[in-house]
Amino acid sequence: MTEESATDDGTADAAAEGDGSVIRRDRFSGGPARSFLSSLEADERIFEADLEVDRAHVVMLAERGIIEADVAGEILTALDAIEVDGHASLPDGEDVHEAIETAVIQRIGEEGGKMHTARSRNDEVAACIRYRLREDALSALEATCSLREVLCEVADEHAETVMPGYTHLQPAQPITVAHWALSYEQTVRRDTARLLEAYGRINASPLGGAAFAGTTFEIDRERTADLLGFDSVLENSMDASSSRDFLLETASALSILATTLSGLAEDVILFANRGFVSLSDDYSSTSSIMPQKKNPDTLELVRAVAGDAAAGVQGLQTTLKGLPRAYNRDLQRATPHVWEAVDAVTEATEVAAGAVATADWNEDALAGAAGEGFSTATGVADLLAENGLPFRTAHEVVAIAAEDGADYDALESAAREVLGEPLEVFVNPDAVEAALDPAESVASRDSQGGPAPLAVRTQLESARSSLETDQEKLMDASESLSSAHDALREEVNEYV
Ligand code: ARG
Repeated sequence: MTEESATDDGTADAAAEGDGSVIRRDRFSGGPARSFLSSLEADERIFEADLEVDRAHVVMLAERGIIEADVAGEILTALDAIEVDGHASLPDGEDVHEAIETAVIQRIGEEGGKMHTARSRNDEVAACIRYRLREDALSALEATCSLREVLCEVADEHAETVMPGYTHLQPAQPITVAHWALSYEQTVRRDTARLLEAYGRINASPLGGAAFAGTTFEIDRERTADLLGFDSVLENSMDASSSRDFLLETASALSILATTLSGLAEDVILFANRGFVSLSDDYSSTSSIMPQKKNPDTLELVRAVAGDAAAGVQGLQTTLKGLPRAYNRDLQRATPHVWEAVDAVTEATEVAAGAVATADWNEDALAGAAGEGFSTATGVADLLAENGLPFRTAHEVVAIAAEDGADYDALESAAREVLGEPLEVFVNPDAVEAALDPAESVASRDSQGGPAPLAVRTQLESARSSLETDQEKLMDASESLSSAHDALREEVNEYV
């Protein structure tokens, strides 16, 4: 049937007017809750995904002889035209699935309705979300890898740049910029790993689960999974069509990543505040009234995204909690939480990477501050303990010195007070002077994972090699998506 003959049909006419009644006829075609029910606008996000899912399903139906090859050809041709016209040209409908089917029927007539044989919008929407979320999760994953790369570069450049390390926001022990950067690299590495895990579970096909109870038609679920590049089939049809734990898992992994980013952003904001680091103008803002101001606004927004992401998890989990099997329309409102979270967190990751990559570390200011607050005290106590004093006694000597000048002389009088003898009886004065020096103090803490430049080099090697492994995994994943897309196109071309 041509588009013209379709519009000869009164039903199609009504659909052309935009009430979507090609599919619903006169039932459920309107009412005051119409826009409340509709997800069509939000479904723009899965418009392309839905067309791909439709194509795979139609190809499989034709291969199995469930629909005729020429009807499949007409449907597939219509889908291509609908894609060219874009989401904005879709007729009205309760959602993108209904609207696309309506658009197909408008173009080719009633036969178009055969595309919905042996499926339901329930398995269809689940497939679309998974299809689209794979791409978005890959973008988020790539952003984590770029951030890790930036942190490795900072570490490489600043393996010897001494800086103060803090606990409770107070100077605690000297470290290096490299040690700080790699501490975040290692956390973000786990964020990558968590998202990769989630990706594995997103990448399974629910298609063919139908409404929830399977179908009487002799469908081939492995085939549609394969055509869509899914790694596996979600076997139980009720689980396939109605579970959304993959959304919750992805949102949670994103929220954990956002929490990591918020700490990183906060550190850099504090470092900028203390003059340790200078942000590039590209990642700063100024005040509309105070002309002297250069503010770390981008990083403050990165810090705030943790709130958005946590809200997404909360919204999603609250929506999903207590939902009975199988499909319930609540699920329509679950999905947008994840789109919002993945967009915000991916962008925040990219911005954090850019801000760190373009920041200038002020080595003099860092060196000047590295010894502040008697930050070498632990090293001096360690030295006394190495020389035979019980650590608790050494701690007491150094604690008294800390209150009393925090230098060699202070240590000397503390030793006389606590131990009754001069310091040199216990330890070589040169060694004490070295322990009081921030750079020497850093160099001496060469235990595995410590800040000593040598220990940091080892950490940097492992950071780089795991980054390479993860980047390969991402490359494989995105190649497998694009080759599935190309292969499906070839199958479609057999019909159109
Ligand atoms: N727009 C719906 C969603 O996002 C599609 C599924 C509708 N299914 C149904 N049984 N009403 O969940």
